[in-house]
Amino acid sequence: MKIELVNDLACEVSVLYFDKASLEASEKSEILGRAGFKAEQDSLCFLYESGILACGVEKFDAESIRSVTSLAIRSLKSSTFSAAKFHVDENSLVAIIEGIVLGGYEFNKYKSKTEPSKLEDIYLACESIESLQEQFQNALIVAEATNFTRDIVNSIPYELNPPSLAKLAKELAKENHLACEILGHAELKKEKMGALLAVGRASEHESKLIHLTYKPKNPKKVVTLVGKGLTYDSGGLSLKPATSMVTMKMDKAGACAVLGIIKAVSEMKLDVEVHAFIGAVENMIGGNAYKPDDVLTSRSGTTIEVRNTDAEGRLVLADVLDYAQEKVQADYLFDFATLTGACMIALGQYTTGIMGHSNMLKHSLFDAAQESGELVGSLPFNRHLKKLLKSDIADISNTASKPYGGAITAGLFLDKFIKDENKEKWLHFDIAGSAYTEAPWDCNVYGATGAGVRLMSSFLRAL
Ligand code: BES
Ligand code: ZN
Ligand code: ZN
Repeated sequence: MKIELVNDLACEVSVLYFDKASLEASEKSEILGRAGFKAEQDSLCFLYESGILACGVEKFDAESIRSVTSLAIRSLKSSTFSAAKFHVDENSLVAIIEGIVLGGYEFNKYKSKTEPSKLEDIYLACESIESLQEQFQNALIVAEATNFTRDIVNSIPYELNPPSLAKLAKELAKENHLACEILGHAELKKEKMGALLAVGRASEHESKLIHLTYKPKNPKKVVTLVGKGLTYDSGGLSLKPATSMVTMKMDKAGACAVLGIIKAVSEMKLDVEVHAFIGAVENMIGGNAYKPDDVLTSRSGTTIEVRNTDAEGRLVLADVLDYAQEKVQADYLFDFATLTGACMIALGQYTTGIMGHSNMLKHSLFDAAQESGELVGSLPFNRHLKKLLKSDIADISNTASKPYGGAITAGLFLDKFIKDENKEKWLHFDIAGSAYTEAPWDCNVYGATGAGVRLMSSFLRAL
């Protein structure tokens, strides 16, 4: 499917947006009214004969337009038309592109038969191509990077394991001219990453640490991104119940988001130096698995009592965060992780949980969320919850002693591995709920959503 920014042209189908007021005022109101169209949000009315696809919106804001465009594109893709036209201006352009590219996303890698869509050309008709060109290009780059992230997250654990994720990162680096360094078992041992290595010990796949760098000529800022890359989380010996294990291929979504972000940033050629660090590990069972009761020595020297092997993401991140802080003196340090089921209980399944010490930084992320259309919510740290991570045998326990506030206690565990000089530069993003969906919502379809990519792209563009 080709998407082009054009001056107005004749086309088989025109997609038109209406709220209640504009429907009433429209010359099409009678014919659409007869077809039962009331311009309710997310309602569609396809007038095949007149070549009109009417879309209902509550108001003409990005969220409403993106949402109904996602439905419109699916309807167009299953029609017999080969081309469709959307009218765009500077206010609607990004939302319409997101609706088309993200809402029209399909993941058919494992289907033996798929019906190819007849829809080939999408025209975005505008008054002045020139004034929208940059916005158009960037929106396409970010939406396609989001789908790149979705593709990796959706890939199955048989195929997508730590070594193959490292290979994929290497290919991305080659294509986008990024520096790439990959640490295998021997190097990780030399780095004394006792926590990361313990998690991956029972897997048949070697654990990897991936470091990609995008370095423009005169960067305005340096940003470090860290991603949880659990290519499968069985829970380990604290085995997950059967129904909770399904979907745990998505436990690598933090890592995949970080790859999508660095892809988008390098393609938009932003003046920001970006480092992506990924801990790629598989959490499995076996005779050599790490155990509840083990005490691990992390790279930073902090010892960790393992009370639950399913709280593995924080162990991997502890070592990768420590390594990343030593390698790069960044202005910002962000980690992305499908870290806790508790985050979904706190904020619902659509919202990314943000934790950290700097209220100012959190506020800039709220702004980026608003602009990008991703949903975020803040979860506050406090000293009382921190006490719950006390261990009687080691420096810290990997699980809290009380079940409440589990997303926050996980964030506080990570905080233990953030150096004092970086406390105000760091934010933790828990994407456990927002990274994956089993029912469509907004511009998301079944499976991975690519959470984090649009959010960070907006934040980094604003720097
Ligand atoms: N990967 C999971 C968190 C998760 C759960 C992500 C559901 C997406 C959907 C994580 O490793 C985990 O298992 N966390 C435990 C922590 C607990 C043992 C302290 C959890 O959330 O139950
Ligand atoms: Zn787990
Ligand atoms: Zn996990």
